[in-house]
Amino acid sequence: MADTKKVTLVTGGSRGIGRSICLTLAKPGDVIAFNHFDPDEKAADETLAMLAEKGVTAEAKKFDVSDPAQVKEYMDHLVSTYGRLDALVNNAGITKDGLLVRMSLEQFEQVIKINLTGAFICLQAAAKIMMRQRSGSIVNMASVVGQIGNAGQANYSASKGGLIALTKTAAKELAGRNVRVNAIAPGFIETEMTAQMPEKAVQAMKNMIPMARAGQPEDIARLTAFLCSDDSDYITGQVVHVNGGMYM
Ligand SMILES: NC(=O)c1ccc[n+]([C@@H]2O[C@H](COP(=O)([O-])OP(=O)(O)OC[C@H]3O[C@@H](n4cnc5c(N)ncnc54)[C@H](O)[C@@H]3O)[C@@H](O)[C@H]2O)c1
Repeated sequence: MADTKKVTLVTGGSRGIGRSICLTLAKPGDVIAFNHFDPDEKAADETLAMLAEKGVTAEAKKFDVSDPAQVKEYMDHLVSTYGRLDALVNNAGITKDGLLVRMSLEQFEQVIKINLTGAFICLQAAAKIMMRQRSGSIVNMASVVGQIGNAGQANYSASKGGLIALTKTAAKELAGRNVRVNAIAPGFIETEMTAQMPEKAVQAMKNMIPMARAGQPEDIARLTAFLCSDDSDYITGQVVHVNGGMYM
């Protein structure tokens, strides 16, 4: 399998960690497909241009990961166009922070809907394809706060904790068909998502990191590439932390 051309779908691939994953996975001849839900196509077009330079077949589509009909339609398109799906990276995610007692039900449900239900919808659709193939790797982008919690992120930490549990259950159900499912739990990574945080909160976060600096998207992308590859073919159901020592 090592030399066959791979077909990969990365959700939320237009920018940040998702973009870095697309670029790191891109080997000449491979197919890299990504989706996004940005208000415009600017970042997605930039990522497509970067992928074109790497000699891959690349495509992007805007759709919401929590819309089952659109997810199914796009996965069907990938299989009918390229014949297979080797890897799915469930990376799309949002935050809507606020203290627990002030958090609206809508604020809570919206984050769960995209980060957890959206990942479930994509995972389920990909699992059906991969089980038929008898091969595949799924990587779910969780977070350190899914294990340790974080004040102001009741919705987000619950979604990521749920994603960790979903990863383990899916790994157990799919292992017999040679489909692996793992989660990555990034710590504090510099992207547009964390750029929205107030400086005081950023400093407080950095103070919790023994390596005393934020991580970069590439730190996550390199591990994702390993978990998608056959080099990790006996690893399933794991949560791998990439956090500069923030949580051990
Ligand atoms: N940056 C960090 O410090 C950090 C830490 C832990 C976990 N994570 C997780 O890593 C992932 C990527 O984070 P990032 O920092 O690159 O974020 P980002 O905000 O820079 O990028 C998010 C991507 O997800 C897409 N997206 C958002 N909602 C979507 C939807 N409904 N349907 C489809 N796509 C959607 C966006 O279009 C974008 O491409 C997220 O799941 C995030 O929770 C990030």
